[in-house]
Amino acid sequence: MTHPASVELAALRDEALRLATNAADDAALDAVVQAFLGKSGRLKGHLKRLGSVPAAERPALGKAVNDTVTEVEAAIATRRKALGDARLEAALSDPGFDPTLPGAPVARGTLHPLTLVDQRLDEIFRSMGFYVLDYPEVDSEHYNFEALNIPADHPARDMQDTFWLNDGNLLRTHTSAGQVRTMKAFAPPFRAIFPGRVFRYEATDASHEHTFHQVEGLCIDRHVSVPHLQASMKTLLSGVFGREVKVRLRPGYFPFVEPGFELDIGCLVCDGAGCPVCKRSGWVELLPCGLVHPNVLRAGGLDPDEWQGWAFGLGLSRLVMMRYKIDDIRHLLAGDVRFLSQFSGTGLE
Ligand code: PHE
Repeated sequence: MTHPASVELAALRDEALRLATNAADDAALDAVVQAFLGKSGRLKGHLKRLGSVPAAERPALGKAVNDTVTEVEAAIATRRKALGDARLEAALSDPGFDPTLPGAPVARGTLHPLTLVDQRLDEIFRSMGFYVLDYPEVDSEHYNFEALNIPADHPARDMQDTFWLNDGNLLRTHTSAGQVRTMKAFAPPFRAIFPGRVFRYEATDASHEHTFHQVEGLCIDRHVSVPHLQASMKTLLSGVFGREVKVRLRPGYFPFVEPGFELDIGCLVCDGAGCPVCKRSGWVELLPCGLVHPNVLRAGGLDPDEWQGWAFGLGLSRLVMMRYKIDDIRHLLAGDVRFLSQFSGTGLE
């Protein structure tokens, strides 16, 4: 005679299979799983009945429960797939659905023109043995001025109007603030560039911005000279522009270099013949530079009788403007996507 537990199992199986096969949606299937297949659900819970079954029939009943669980699980999976297929079928046969229409466009960001040019400069300088360093934008009066041979009463402080912070620190007015930090951090000889943002407390117009970008270059070695500086700059800039560049030096004054220069390059637009870009002179002012002043070497812990150096301060914002023919520096940091999405490539390859 069949044990009542087996009869009940058969009834449970029929009910579960019927509910699974006829389930109208995924939620109904979930309900079947919960009611029958959970640990204390009606099917698995049926194993508790084993105790009341004669020992000889137990293994058969246990196996029957497990087989039923497998069978119901399969029925649920089959129904779930059928429901999914039907949904897809309905969506595809909707007359309003046109698979040939383009998908929603994915808006992709673009690199900022300053980033594009800076990345290329970093790459070129690295290949020439320069470290690429990063220094704080909030710096001390010491590194920004005093260590650079600009004491408090020095008129050169007025050359760069400064954002002072309440704690006595300042927003660096030039990347030269990294020079003495670098001398302290590395054993000479070394070469490094340090690109970054600088800040000046001044009125803005098409060619002045309170925040702009510079790339400082510093080379410390046993013997450097003005011809060495000039030749180095010529090689560096020819690498940067990917063609032979003519350079000339004019005297320029900065307290932290002696002698100091303004470096011009032969106009890349007209090759020196004279054009509106170079104001018919054949030359374009590119960057200030000079031999590191002995007082600056001393501030960096270097003996000026043993070590010498040259430094330059490249106006990255200016370079980017020249490269992309941007006529107003204020575009660079205005964050207008219509402006920013126009740039690709650096033209420095
Ligand atoms: N720090 C100077 C400036 O911002 C530029 C400069 C750098 C000059 C290095 C000489 C040497 O105006």
